[in-house]
Formats: sequence, structure tokens, C-alpha cells
Amino acid sequence: AAALTPEDEPRPRLTESVTVRVPAKVNLALSVGPPRPDGYHDLATVFHAVGLFDEVCAAESETLTLTCEGEGAAEVPLDATNLAWRAAVLLAETTGRHPAVRLHLAKGIPVAGGMAGGSADAAGALVACDALWGTGLSRDELHSLAARLGSDVPFALYGGTAMGTGRGDQIAPVLARGEFHWVFAFAHEGLSTPAVFRELDRLREAAGEEAPAPGVDDELLRALRAGDPALLGAALRNDLTRPATSLRPDLRATLQAGREAGAIGTLLSGSGPTCAFLAADATGAAAVAEALAAAPSVRAVRRALGPAPGAHVL
Ligand code: C5P
Repeated sequence: AAALTPEDEPRPRLTESVTVRVPAKVNLALSVGPPRPDGYHDLATVFHAVGLFDEVCAAESETLTLTCEGEGAAEVPLDATNLAWRAAVLLAETTGRHPAVRLHLAKGIPVAGGMAGGSADAAGALVACDALWGTGLSRDELHSLAARLGSDVPFALYGGTAMGTGRGDQIAPVLARGEFHWVFAFAHEGLSTPAVFRELDRLREAAGEEAPAPGVDDELLRALRAGDPALLGAALRNDLTRPATSLRPDLRATLQAGREAGAIGTLLSGSGPTCAFLAADATGAAAVAEALAAAPSVRAVRRALGPAPGAHVL
């Protein structure tokens, strides 16, 4: 009998799967301009990826399915409203195939927390499906698909520390040195990003304030170049702090608790409600974390280092 060729050999059917790890982000600066006709705001921001991660697993399947476990999993939609689902569909449409994939999210990033967890999942799904299907898209092509999914999705592909302009979807590198010690205080309830932006517009209008052209202070960029936590702590800025604390006054207590515990910088993360605290070193971070864990306005506390790498296959 003829020898079996490799194609004829009976092979066990392995389920091909790819797992991608994606970081959360904080905005070290978030400067928001006036509302645009399309409902977005032009902004200038410095994104900083931190070591809190979601993992996105993509496995071969007959149909598109989505499951989720971990931090806040009960609040995550498991249908076409989920950005990870939409990422798989968009990549499939773009590359002319069926979105036949089983997606599973393992969440470490708080849901609706202002740390771009949903955007991280979208970036993770893009990278995981891209690897699973072998689409051969370039990094630039993945970036433009990411930008169509959401303003914060492109940055999750890159990670590190980067300037964001436009809606936040245009990314440029920022020189940054060293490693920073962060403490994050999660709130009991999430906050809607559009609601926080609307509240900013409302407060500015009520105060007769003209929205400034968005920009990032030189001090912040100098602090990053120097890798100096004290300078960085003093230079942190977020225009969404006022509207977020207006909608959720209990966030003031959280920010105050971190300050009193010796944080060298306090910051609302993105549109909140997560609050971020910068510590001088690991010992400082432990003290801030311990104090925050006792604050009634805080649901959970996490420590993380920044910057962290962007979406990558494990
Ligand atoms: O882009 P993404 O879908 O993540 O944005 C969510 C919401 O946040 C937008 O619908 C808008 O209300 C607000 N937003 C904004 N300006 C930006 C980014 C987001 O007003 N640059």
C-alpha cells in the first residue's frame, strides 16, 4: 500500500485559539474643547497604559458567540452592542469572511469605570481575530478599524504613554522614562461617558465659559521625560473632573481620601468614576491603597504599574 501522505494522515481536530492581553488606561492630561457638530469633542490627551488587564480569547467556531468572566462581568452585554463583538464583525466584513469565532473576555478592568475596558476588549478582539484568521492586515489598517470602533480603541493597540488628539483616536508617541506606581479606587457604580461630556458642556454654558482650544501643558511632558513622579503628580489634569464630581459628589470623598493618605497626585480616570492616585514608590502605594480600602465611597482598590504594553498575543 502507498504510504500515507501528510494530508491523508488522520489528525486530531485541535481547536485553534489565540489569547490577547490588553491594558487599561488613564489620561494623565485630558483637555476637552467645545462640542463638535458630530457630537464628539476635540481633545488633547496623554494616554498612559497601566498594568490592569483584560484578556480576550478567540477560538474557532461555527458562529459568533461571546462569553465573559471576572471583574464586573454581570454588567457586560454579550450581544452586538459589545465592542468586542463589533470588532470581530468589522474585521470579518473588511477581510471578506464570516465572523465565525468564539470570543471570551476575562475582565480585570472595571466596567464603565473610565479606564477604557470596553475599548481594550475591542482592541483585543481585533488583534486576536486577526491572528486567528491570519488576515495579514497592516498595523495602520488595524488602527483605522480601531478608530471606527471607538475613540479610545487605537491607543489600546499601542499601550505605553502617548499623545492623543482629534477624538483621541490620533496617536503620537511621547517620550517617557521610568515606571510609575498607581493606585486605583473603583466606585460602587459606573458612569456614562456621554453623560459626563454633556455635563461638562452644560456647566461651561451655565458659567458663561468659552471652551478653550485643547492642549497639554509642557510641565506634564517635562515630568514624563524626566521620569519624575513628584513633577508628574503636580501636573496631572482632567477637564472631566468637574462634571464627573458634579454628577457623583461622592467622588470628592474618594479623591480626598487618597490625598490625605499621601498620594503625590490625584486624578479622575477618564470620564470616571474610577479615581487614580500616583505614589512616589511601592511603599507609598501600599499606604494609599490601605487607606482607600477603608473609604465608604470605594468598592475595590487595585495597584498597578505604568506604562504597560499594548494589546499583545500571549
Ligand atoms: O468614541 P466612543 O464611542 O468611545 O465615545 C463615547 C462617547 O463619549 C461619545 O458618544 C461622546 O458622547 C463622548 N466623547 C466625546 N468626545 C470624544 C470622545 C468621546 O464627546 N473625543
